[in-house]
Amino acid sequence: MSLKDIGPVVLIGAGKMGLALARGWIAAGLPPASLVLCDPNPSEAARLFAFEHRIALQSTPDGVFVHVLVLAVKPQAMFEVLAAIKGSVGRHSLIISIAAGIALGKLAEALGSDRIVRAMPNTPAQIGRGITGAVALSVSDADRQIADDLLKAAGDVMWFGTEAQIDAVTAVSGSGPAYVFHLVEALAAAAERQGFTAPEAMRLARATVTGAAALMDADPLPASTLRENVTSPKGTTAAALAVLMDIDTGLAPLMDRAVSAARLRSEELGRG
Ligand SMILES: NC(=O)c1ccc[n+]([C@@H]2O[C@H](COP(=O)([O-])OP(=O)(O)OC[C@H]3O[C@@H](n4cnc5c(N)ncnc54)[C@H](OP(=O)(O)O)[C@@H]3O)[C@@H](O)[C@H]2O)c1
Repeated sequence: MSLKDIGPVVLIGAGKMGLALARGWIAAGLPPASLVLCDPNPSEAARLFAFEHRIALQSTPDGVFVHVLVLAVKPQAMFEVLAAIKGSVGRHSLIISIAAGIALGKLAEALGSDRIVRAMPNTPAQIGRGITGAVALSVSDADRQIADDLLKAAGDVMWFGTEAQIDAVTAVSGSGPAYVFHLVEALAAAAERQGFTAPEAMRLARATVTGAAALMDADPLPASTLRENVTSPKGTTAAALAVLMDIDTGLAPLMDRAVSAARLRSEELGRG
């Protein structure tokens, strides 16, 4: 099914992630007339996007037939939103939530429907390069296809069989871009200690990480092979990697702790 035939799609929350998705849908062929943006306090970016594409922008979905509802408000605002929109959705509505930590069961209870997909995108969705983990326990294949088509507008989509895996997706790819940005900060800080000015250090670190990511994107070889390809025996990279790959104090055990902490927090948020 193409996005041309999906609709009306109602997006609740035209913030960073909601707008990223909406931009992707329009770019992928969703007719602007098939989209309704709902945000009681839309940002300048949301207003401009709606104006440019002649997309309806309103504070609530009142009066709209909701075929697909995408929930993109902050988790803290979610239950108030669900209570307010309950009357607009029903068995005719497929619901897709991208809110971190809000379980399918809680959404189903609040909306009185279990036609729900829970998805976790990440911020590269803003440039169509996100990866989204999705789970749906009781939707039809057709619903799953609609959700897949909509979520793919923000990048790649992976479906999982259990909801617990979404907490793990949150910890790996949902929060993951921040880990990479912090890697840039850490590399820049190390560069400053080598005597570079702050702007020089940041330019070196940033270009290294974006360049390495682009190289990995262009080359299907495993990351480990790409690493080995730039590591000559007893060379400079090998000296650094001996530190970074230390089994007790290197990056792998540190990343493991970081990802576990994010997963625990996601589970905690889910319990409310
Ligand atoms: N950003 C990410 O990396 C990321 C990744 C995966 C999932 N998510 C999920 O995506 C959701 C949105 O995150 P975000 O970063 O896009 O947040 P955001 O930029 O704050 O966007 C949320 C938007 O919803 C609006 N809103 C608040 N109450 C509303 C209501 N009653 N009806 C309609 N809109 C309402 C907010 O308006 P105000 O600003 O006026 O409150 C804001 O424009 C969150 O649940 C988050 O867990 C985000």
